[in-house]
Amino acid sequence: MNILGISCYFHDAAAALLRDGQLIAAAEEERFTRKKHDYEFPQHAIDFCFRVGGIQASDLDYVVFFEKPFLKFERLLLSAMQTFPRSYRVFREAMIAWLGDKLWIKHLIQKRLGVPPSHILFSEHHLSHAASAFFCSPFEEAAILTVDGVGEWTTASLGIGRGTDIRLLNEIRFPHSLGLLYSAFTAFLGFEVNEGEYKVMGMAPFGTPRYLDKVHRLIRVARDGSFELNMDYFSFHYSTEQTFNGKFVELFGPPRDPRAHFFTPGSGYPSYFGDKPENFGELAKRNQHYADIAASIQAAIEEILLKMAHELHRETGLTKLCMAGGVALNSVANGRILRETPFEELYVQPSAGDGGGAIGAALYAYHMVLGRPRAFIMEHAYWGEEHHPDEVEAFLKENGIRYQVVEDEDKLIERVVDRLQEGKVVGWSQGRFEWGPRALGNRSILADPRRADMKDLVNVKIKFREPFRPFAPSVLVERAEEYFRLPEAEKHYPARFMLYVVEVREEKRDLIPAVTHVDGTGRLQTVRRETSPSFYRLIEAFGQATGVPVVLNTSFNLKGEPIVNTPQEAFHTFTASGMDALVIGRCVIEKNEKEGERG
Ligand SMILES: [Fe+2]
Repeated sequence: MNILGISCYFHDAAAALLRDGQLIAAAEEERFTRKKHDYEFPQHAIDFCFRVGGIQASDLDYVVFFEKPFLKFERLLLSAMQTFPRSYRVFREAMIAWLGDKLWIKHLIQKRLGVPPSHILFSEHHLSHAASAFFCSPFEEAAILTVDGVGEWTTASLGIGRGTDIRLLNEIRFPHSLGLLYSAFTAFLGFEVNEGEYKVMGMAPFGTPRYLDKVHRLIRVARDGSFELNMDYFSFHYSTEQTFNGKFVELFGPPRDPRAHFFTPGSGYPSYFGDKPENFGELAKRNQHYADIAASIQAAIEEILLKMAHELHRETGLTKLCMAGGVALNSVANGRILRETPFEELYVQPSAGDGGGAIGAALYAYHMVLGRPRAFIMEHAYWGEEHHPDEVEAFLKENGIRYQVVEDEDKLIERVVDRLQEGKVVGWSQGRFEWGPRALGNRSILADPRRADMKDLVNVKIKFREPFRPFAPSVLVERAEEYFRLPEAEKHYPARFMLYVVEVREEKRDLIPAVTHVDGTGRLQTVRRETSPSFYRLIEAFGQATGVPVVLNTSFNLKGEPIVNTPQEAFHTFTASGMDALVIGRCVIEKNEKEGERG
């Protein structure tokens, strides 16, 4: 039985193919169209799923869409009516989009894929989120918490999963939304909504949450974690351009200029920003104010999520928790939920945002509509496209690129380890690309985490990221506890997917400064031999050579671009950046010391 799950027209479009309950393939559309956060109909991702599955649309038993268009339309219509005439523009734009594409999604799927209407099903947005977490988890029974911007009406839901069933117990409805609250601050702090949330999280440790009381004027939180926004401060319910309004600015001061560099007295001025400005002190002080705001909203979100998790535990008595929705990508909050609530184990799948709804929708249909038994646990994130060695070599040859094939994996790894120890930055592209926003060793850029200057070096060479964004450590799962405060690291799935921020052990912080954040934490990835054999051996060999079984791992892309998929994209990123070496499969391409020439 073939079931295709689709998510699109909101944030990240994606498709996933399920066969007899087993995931066959899953990918976000942006990886094929190269449009970051592409939300259009995921035709490329669907075609890719068909290629992997060796099927065509006529072989599909069901196509499942991740939300209910009419419910969402109703929400847009009603909230527009309540805030009319302020909402005129948002209403008009929504009408154009919805009457054009969204409302007719069934017809569209029918037209695009040639699937009869009786084979097209719809899940609900938060049910898709819940299903994407619970049905991918190894748990027979678990509490479920979904938190995002907004689905149809729901912005957060609390539920229980048992076997093949999910029951949602409670929900919070639009416009009261933690996701939209966080997004309002993301925009206020000068970052792009649905992209810059990570930056707010990374900025927070540079500040102190001194504005917590002000944040609490925007949101009233009950003891059970349920909450209400004070809509006097927001405009997302009637504007397409602004999420916060003048009253918000009265409270927090003017928003941060998105073009201004961010640095604080604590971060210093990174070399790749150019010459240090004369009024560094003054600018740093101004930025400190924004860092304090970031710290305040992050602290508020953590507190609320902790309350919700406590409540969910009280109601269910369960010790396992599945989380999904964009807010479940807040890895700092996830780490705290694990440490500070009675939940002993969490499961978050790597594409916890709306893209993940594609898998959730397919699993919902398989288990909850068709009543089929559980057959799948998402053990790893490698569900994307891979490129045959012949394809890689054909590309390199056609373009006259000098490369070397190193067939012996030990020798290949030895070479990479040598380069890393020399302080070189290596692009590493292997096997199927990752599902979700993180690179987990198949489309990664790697560097030596032991050098304090490596963060700046990687930024100068490739990323040009703001100095407050930490780079992540990938560590052998068996050695994780030596370096990080994560007891029983083996059993924690979110750590496989870089979804926990935990403390780096104090005595190890100086050993891996390039992946230790300013507050002494790290967003670790635990790497397992059975799911990432080559990457595991690489880190193992690095550990044997240096005594530190940890590498710096950042996603293989240029700033603002989606993570690479094909050999062409990997090579383009390699040449367009200061990366020193590139490994695609067994092919090694190195730049000369001089002039960045290949040789
Ligand atoms: Fe969502």
